[in-house]
Amino acid sequence: METLKLLFLSLALALTAASNAATARSIPDHIHPLRPQLGTSAGRRIPGLNCLSWRLAVEADNIQDWTVVPKECENYVGNYMLGLQYRIDSKFVTGSAYLYAKNLTLGKDGKDVWVFDIDDTSLSNLPYYAQPDTAFGAKPYNDTTFTVWEKQAKAPALPATLWLYKRLLRLGFKIVFLTGRSETFRAVTVQNLHKVGYTKWEKLILKSAEEKAEGLHALQYKSRERTNLVKAGYRILGNIGDQWSDVLGDNVGSRTFKLPNPMFYIA
Ligand SMILES: *[C@@H]1O[C@H](CO)[C@@H](O)[C@H](O)[C@H]1NC(C)=O
Ligand SMILES: *[C@@H]1O[C@H](CO)[C@@H](O)[C@H](O)[C@H]1NC(C)=O
Ligand SMILES: [Mg+2]
Repeated sequence: METLKLLFLSLALALTAASNAATARSIPDHIHPLRPQLGTSAGRRIPGLNCLSWRLAVEADNIQDWTVVPKECENYVGNYMLGLQYRIDSKFVTGSAYLYAKNLTLGKDGKDVWVFDIDDTSLSNLPYYAQPDTAFGAKPYNDTTFTVWEKQAKAPALPATLWLYKRLLRLGFKIVFLTGRSETFRAVTVQNLHKVGYTKWEKLILKSAEEKAEGLHALQYKSRERTNLVKAGYRILGNIGDQWSDVLGDNVGSRTFKLPNPMFYIA
């Protein structure tokens, strides 16, 4: 109920904001209010409109294997990530996940699991990506600087995901963290998770040195690890991540939830 209210409140806020914006642009009132209000049809170019299309294509997985945010969308992505919309979008995802989860009847054997990705799902690397030399993904990925950031173990929790995590625990789910982070980062990852409120889990699966050497794509690696979970008798009822490679492949789970992330693409 609480979540439903939250969802409707978010929706109401979004709708109010939209109608205020429309009023502010003073659409002549003899024209039907549903006429297109944005675009080039009125002879005006609206900055950021193409970036909105770009982000939609990213989130729908219609464009793949892109390496950097288009230069002209750097500010757009920055505004999105630091603004209210990213938070509302994330809450909408985890709110929907909770509505699904609380409706399930779990087994009594403790084998019902929910898979969580870590980076930009459970933990937010936004403080790193907001730096000028990263520019919300408009600058190429730099493994050296990202590793330095990771080792500092100071990533905050993504609030919407922490909220879902706590509620899933209360419902009796077992939590499995499945991350492309290297096994050598286990200690800093545990430290970071604990620090921000993720204190309990069934498994924390990181990429072993052998898996790293195999050079598997995230999708293959995560598929394999989820298959191992299923072979071990776990039932994956839910799975949440910020990349399509978190939620596609084998044994993805009964339902998957994709958080927004317009800053980078991991195949
Ligand atoms: C909850 O379960 C009922 C009965 O199985 C189903 O009809 C309904 O769609 C479910 N709701 C959600 C949000 O999954
Ligand atoms: C990554 O960042 C480091 C430290 O700022 C810099 O020395 C290096 O040239 C960068 N690497 C690339 C590929 O840009
Ligand atoms: Mg991730």
